[in-house]
Amino acid sequence: MKKRDFLHKEVQHIDMKRFDSTPIIEQFENTAFQARNLARAAKIYNDMLSNKDCTIILCLAGSLFSAGLKNVVHDLVSNNMVDVIVSTGAIIVDQDFFEALGFKHYQGTHNASDNALQKEGIDRIYDTFIDEDELRICDMTVKEIADGIAPRAYSSREFIRVMGEFLDHKNKPGCSVVRAARKKELPVFVPAFSDSSAGFGLVFHQWARKEKPSVAIDSVKDFLELTKIKVASKDTGLLMIGGGVPKNFAQDVTVAADILGEKVAMHKYAVQITVADERDGGLSGSTLKEAHSWGKVDEGSEQIVFSEATIAFPLIASYAYHRGDWKDRGAREFNLLLDKRG
Ligand SMILES: NC(=O)c1ccc[n+]([C@@H]2O[C@H](COP(=O)([O-])OP(=O)(O)OC[C@H]3O[C@@H](n4cnc5c(N)ncnc54)[C@H](O)[C@@H]3O)[C@@H](O)[C@H]2O)c1
Repeated sequence: MKKRDFLHKEVQHIDMKRFDSTPIIEQFENTAFQARNLARAAKIYNDMLSNKDCTIILCLAGSLFSAGLKNVVHDLVSNNMVDVIVSTGAIIVDQDFFEALGFKHYQGTHNASDNALQKEGIDRIYDTFIDEDELRICDMTVKEIADGIAPRAYSSREFIRVMGEFLDHKNKPGCSVVRAARKKELPVFVPAFSDSSAGFGLVFHQWARKEKPSVAIDSVKDFLELTKIKVASKDTGLLMIGGGVPKNFAQDVTVAADILGEKVAMHKYAVQITVADERDGGLSGSTLKEAHSWGKVDEGSEQIVFSEATIAFPLIASYAYHRGDWKDRGAREFNLLLDKRG
């Protein structure tokens, strides 16, 4: 089989506006196990939206956009249903920015011959396929962007906003979270930015500039900027998909603010969808109750849903979308606040 034989059926993104999950969430509420937990999580997310003083931080890990969840996040951004994003680089660069350049993810199978895929230059994420040549173009586009801006240290948020401007300039069709976030002046943080397609582009950028000054990504600046958002917010809520670095990074700003001598409350609301459990002591499966002992998450409005995100996330998002409590929320435009404070 040749490359095009593998890459013919595109992954389609879920449109959570096209179905109303309210009836199933209401029935889940009267059941047990993860169905009841999912219903409670949906209601807590809706409480975040109806609290006008609440800044909502969406945390993303896992291979979510390649699996069809990009438009769910795009709709949350476009309708002011989240105010800040903290993500892995894979989701923002390898998946969102990649698709914004006109490339696609394809349905495949986890039973495929990985040797045959390797020979054809196809990368596999479980049952989906990606064209490695297209990923290389994505890497090199990041280099092109870095080559075109002043050589200095940027927070990942600043760099991702420039990526959004680049996409605006190209004006390609199709929806992109990077582009929608730039339009809303919504900050997107990727604390481990180099651990993605962006890393390859930036490595090449720095290597090619030899002794000349180059663009660098300052993850401490990310942390300070996110802490400033926490300090500027009365209440905060975390909507966490997966776990990993974004989960801890967003939780830690309560402690960072405390160290800066700023009096801030713990995150008032917290919802996490994950397949990780707590028995290995790892961060991704650590309970939100445990986070209370660290001074990060308040008690009372926290809920973990043990589910694979492609199933649970659209149900929660669709419920909140169709309840409509977000309609009075405006864009918080935290990018402007961060620019002002330097
Ligand atoms: N995932 C990829 O395909 C990929 C590709 C390139 C680079 N990376 C980089 O690898 C690092 C790790 O990222 P990661 O995204 O693989 O996260 P990860 O493997 O660290 O996942 C974090 C947690 O989220 C949970 N999780 C992941 N997918 C889930 C799902 N669909 N439903 C429910 N829970 C889920 C996992 O069980 C884990 O506990 C990041 O820096 C990322 O940029 C990842």
